[in-house]
Amino acid sequence: MNAAIVTRKITDSQETLIIQRPKSGLCLNGNIQVPGDKSISHRALMLGAIAQGETIIKGLLLGEDPRRTAKCFSLLGANISELNTELVKVQGVGLGQLKEPSQVLDCGNSGTTMRLMLGILASHPECFFTVTGDNSLVQRPMSRVAKPLTQMGAQIWGRQGGSFAPLAIQGQKLKHIHYHSPIASAQVKSCILFAGLMTEGKTMVTEPALSRDHSERMLQAFGAQIEIDPETNSATVVGPAQLKGQNVVVPGDISSAAFWLVAAATVPGSELLISNVGVNPTRTGILEALEMMGANIVQENQRVVAGEPVADLRVRYGQLRACEISGGIIPRLIDEIPILAVAAMFAEGTTVIRDASELRVKESDRLAVMATQLQRLGAKVTELPDGLEITGGMSVTGTDVESHGDHRVAMSLAIAALNANGSTYIHEAEAASISYPDFITTLQEVCG
Ligand code: S3P
Repeated sequence: MNAAIVTRKITDSQETLIIQRPKSGLCLNGNIQVPGDKSISHRALMLGAIAQGETIIKGLLLGEDPRRTAKCFSLLGANISELNTELVKVQGVGLGQLKEPSQVLDCGNSGTTMRLMLGILASHPECFFTVTGDNSLVQRPMSRVAKPLTQMGAQIWGRQGGSFAPLAIQGQKLKHIHYHSPIASAQVKSCILFAGLMTEGKTMVTEPALSRDHSERMLQAFGAQIEIDPETNSATVVGPAQLKGQNVVVPGDISSAAFWLVAAATVPGSELLISNVGVNPTRTGILEALEMMGANIVQENQRVVAGEPVADLRVRYGQLRACEISGGIIPRLIDEIPILAVAAMFAEGTTVIRDASELRVKESDRLAVMATQLQRLGAKVTELPDGLEITGGMSVTGTDVESHGDHRVAMSLAIAALNANGSTYIHEAEAASISYPDFITTLQEVCG
């Protein structure tokens, strides 16, 4: 088999990724190491910054988003060593000891930085903070965290009654609440739990379905008293907490591994081994969905590393079939829906994804963007109010497609292009560096 030709063209800091599939076909082989988990990287930096003493982080994701978190918490007074994957040292200031920065805290593209940090800032009495983000982030709803924080007594101002950044926060001594979140969102849950760290009594969050639980796990590891009720999807923090610096080992990001799982599952003749992937059950919806579609994925060498389950994932090509993805599994694969839509393009039958309207308020409106971009490639996709309907087996032909500056869209389109005839031009492909700086290099290697 010939290799796919993967080239990059950079003009004015915008990158076009060109994928040219050889006429004779392609197959992907090799061993891949995916970068550190984005959610865990943010949390390790944040908890390290507010804990007492030193936190050592191994395997930190060096993407743009965690870099924003590190920059913000440095401005807030934490001493964070130069970022690298081997070892990052965070000298924490101790709970409630962040200092008021003279600069605006710029979260860039990172919703996790802004929403989680807001919980910490709002509970710092006598400090005033301003936060903002890029063109995408200032259009994403912040009312989902501003509302419960305000119920706790926080003072938050922003555009449209505090719903959109830029935001200003006057820290306060907060009071505990029991918040019934209307959405299953780890960002909302974590924001409230973080605000509860300095708050007297039990701060509790109940969500309609369980979202990723990295905050609960890491808070416990740092010494906070956390109570979990799996029956009601509730998490409680008992405040005021004591946090002590820890050693954190960040596993590979299953959301990044998802691109290779779908690549190998859809490109005939492929086999990839993806080592050291976090397989926390609140994140493995993608494995279950692909297995429902008949994918050949084996979890090898299962182990627990620093409180998080980890495995090596071996994936082999096999014809996929359509399935229906909806309900409680959605929060467990929320970031993988763009790449699942790509898997569905190459599956037999019609895949229906529902209950995923949250995708409309991600880095882009992922339902609208994926529907239009996959249609450009020739896929049969219908955009639903809360999902997508994708009929597989259409002939897919390379053309110009747009990432809309959304990292997961850029990478999903690159994987779709591996099965497209001719050349695909993915514009604004540099967005991949938000969560996967080496994505294109790895793509070149596995195609090579
Ligand atoms: C994240 C939670 C999810 C996810 C995001 C990261 C986190 O967002 O989409 O990429 O680290 O807590 P929501 O909580 O808004 O669903």
